[in-house]
Amino acid sequence: MSEQGKQIVPIIRAGVMGWPVDHSLSPVVHGFWLDELGIDGSYERIAVAPENFEAELKSLAQKGYAGVNVTVPHKQAAMNAVDTCDAMAERIGAVNTIIVNPDGALHGFNTDGYGFIENLKAGVPDFDFSQKPCVVLGAGGAARAVVAALLDAGAPEVRIVNRTEANARQLAMDLAPYWDGDLAVAPWDARGDALDGAGLLVNTTTLGMQGKGALEISLDALPTDAVVNDIVYAPLETDLLAAAKVRGNTVVDGLGMLLHQARPGFAAWFGAEPQVTEALRSHVLDAIKGESE
Ligand code: ATR
Repeated sequence: MSEQGKQIVPIIRAGVMGWPVDHSLSPVVHGFWLDELGIDGSYERIAVAPENFEAELKSLAQKGYAGVNVTVPHKQAAMNAVDTCDAMAERIGAVNTIIVNPDGALHGFNTDGYGFIENLKAGVPDFDFSQKPCVVLGAGGAARAVVAALLDAGAPEVRIVNRTEANARQLAMDLAPYWDGDLAVAPWDARGDALDGAGLLVNTTTLGMQGKGALEISLDALPTDAVVNDIVYAPLETDLLAAAKVRGNTVVDGLGMLLHQARPGFAAWFGAEPQVTEALRSHVLDAIKGESE
């Protein structure tokens, strides 16, 4: 074929919008999948200050992006700026993934809760969400996604325990209309007691993360057949997971949530279903280690 006759196929562009965005691990995850699947695409870090966010978002179609992830501090603003968004994003009150439709309209969704559930399922394939109460520590953005996903998965009772009780109450109030199970709030000082009879404990606070304070909690009341999940992934084995393991609880680390939440966006933009594998985990762990050195 002559040079003139050659069709130029533009590479598919996606990225992550944040402020700051330098430490986002999303480019590491999506970059791995692009290489692995041999896709001619790019996934970029897009640093956008809050005052420019909406304008940048609206210019995505014109710049040829298939879509983006949205991270701190833009997740709530993204929900208000998109043309349509799915029910889960609305429940959570935040959008973390956006698709640019062929007509340029922006569709937002939230994959954090999906990532949380998929990670648990990968770690404990026979876990039955509908059997026992779940305890969620924290009431921030991550907790919102986790509680909404647990309600969706059929949890009979979710107990939210947070340092600032008012934040836990607000979360419970926001999500109660979507659910007929029991949504309880327990005081932070009684966090150990809240574990009584639970089938799942999830830490969504920043406690236990490298450079943050320790999560102090007595696990004495937690049944030994309960599953314990920390969404903190640096370190991979938090003190909470180490203590739970010693007493015989099954533990699930937080890295898988980060990896699984990235799958729906990748599939939508690049048209291929990516997998969460050991190779991906070690690749991302190396990047995390590199950051902290
Ligand atoms: P994310 O979006 O990752 O959930 P966030 O919205 O800042 O982050 O939420 C952080 C969570 O960690 C909150 O539940 C916070 O409790 P408050 O609502 O009381 O702020 C919790 N957290 C942070 N530092 C804490 C500490 N020292 N002790 C107890 N909880 C803490």
